[in-house]
Amino acid sequence: MNTATSQIAITDLHPSPDDILGDVLAGLSGKPKRLPSKYFYDRRGSELFELITRQPEYYPTRVELALIADSGLEMAAAVGPHAHVVEYGSGSGRKTRLLLDALVDPVAYTPVEISRSALLASVERLDREFDKVEVLPVCADFTQPLALPEPANPAERVLLFFPGSTLGNFTHDESVRLLLAMRETMGEHGSALIGIDLQKSPELLVAAYNDAAGVTAEFTLNLLARLNREVGSDFDLDGFAHRAVYEPAVGRIETFLDSLSDQVVRVQGRQFAFAAGEAMQVEYSHKYTDASFNELAARAGLEVARSWNDPRDWFGLRLLQRT
Ligand code: TRP
Repeated sequence: MNTATSQIAITDLHPSPDDILGDVLAGLSGKPKRLPSKYFYDRRGSELFELITRQPEYYPTRVELALIADSGLEMAAAVGPHAHVVEYGSGSGRKTRLLLDALVDPVAYTPVEISRSALLASVERLDREFDKVEVLPVCADFTQPLALPEPANPAERVLLFFPGSTLGNFTHDESVRLLLAMRETMGEHGSALIGIDLQKSPELLVAAYNDAAGVTAEFTLNLLARLNREVGSDFDLDGFAHRAVYEPAVGRIETFLDSLSDQVVRVQGRQFAFAAGEAMQVEYSHKYTDASFNELAARAGLEVARSWNDPRDWFGLRLLQRT
């Protein structure tokens, strides 16, 4: 263990471990068949996602980073000084760094992440770079309300940070439950800064989820490789093809793995028959309008206090507070 990590104490709220086999069996028994997208992010999946964010067609990461770089000082003024920044999930840290740089004297930074290894990997560098910010990682399931660790220097407010339009990967009902949990965690005077991908031309959206280099296809197929390894399934990676479409009526990208032939997949003694052309659903990625996002927030007792979009209105950040 190196010294940089050993100095950072993790608060472990002992999230219940994922039931990956149960989730897979339930998903494959459904009509249509589904696989839960939360299992995309094993080590290789996280690497591939990082590569997706660098593809020319995948605009969300670039646009959101530029928006924080351009409007960070306005965001900081709206949030106020001495915040305890709590990030839901941990990414590469690029957005976090921009935000912490812009905020006025942030007191502490708490990434909340279900995977201990991802949690540790994300905090080491930030801890070195921001010596005035106390790093207080929490290992927990961020879909539940959580008791935050107390910074040594008391914070004046909590700022929840949920970038990447990850909210869009939940159904609307799940999103409302998550926003309600955030409302609890942020406290009376807290706020949440949430990244949302906005509705735009279907061509741009579809291209972002079907990059020409095929990285997204490799990313979705990696889910099958992971399941083969971890639950002992026998998915043939050449027997399925990635497909992402935009459904304007529901405002979301839907990603599927299509079976390329009649085939049977075995999982722990159970058999699942796929017809040629049968689509297995793996991910939703909701795209918002102001009206659709405001409605979600309102259902969770929250309102949009400030809002920032990039100049083309492709991606937005919303500052939510209790109504
Ligand atoms: N949160 C990202 C998004 O919805 C995740 C993602 C990007 C993704 N590309 C994907 C998920 C392709 C599944 C398939 O944009």
